[in-house]
Amino acid sequence: MTVHHLVYVSQAAPGMSDATIAEIVEASRAYNAAHGITGVLLFVPGRDGHVGSFMQLLEGESGEVKSLTEMILADPRHHTKVVLTQGQRERRCFPDWSMALKTAAPEEIADHPILANLANKEFMDKVACGPEANTVLPLLMDFWDAEPLD
Ligand SMILES: Cc1cc2nc3c(=O)[nH]c(=O)nc-3n(C[C@H](O)[C@H](O)[C@H](O)COP(=O)(O)O)c2cc1C
Repeated sequence: MTVHHLVYVSQAAPGMSDATIAEIVEASRAYNAAHGITGVLLFVPGRDGHVGSFMQLLEGESGEVKSLTEMILADPRHHTKVVLTQGQRERRCFPDWSMALKTAAPEEIADHPILANLANKEFMDKVACGPEANTVLPLLMDFWDAEPLD
């Protein structure tokens, strides 16, 4: 059975706080566990007036991933949402996580080719729409020290 996956990036809305992120993740874990969705949510705190950015991987049955994606993309707690990559894989990257959360420390992402620039307009214009977009899955897994993809 193949598993659908989707990775998007977005910018957090003004007022986003650790408490709001914790609420989102708590609700997500309940919904995702009930709908066979696994994945990771990475929050990169902003600099220079940016609130921060999200990168999220959702994986599961394709109809479930699509309907959850619609709900998430309609959520006003983030904006400038861009789907980087989606498709089918043989197995899940994060089978044990109904939604893992990580907040990246600035020093952790300083040298990271994609994450360091997540909040820049240039990233949205060039990387998010360019051919590099489909390289984010291995990057996310690397960031979580997950087992390499087949
Ligand atoms: C960055 C971000 C990631 C989210 N991820 C999930 C998720 O993985 N699962 C989930 O059920 N809700 C997630 N949500 C919350 C949904 O957008 C939405 O609030 C939830 O589905 C409840 O919708 P409702 O209030 O219309 O019932 C996320 C929200 C944000 C802002």
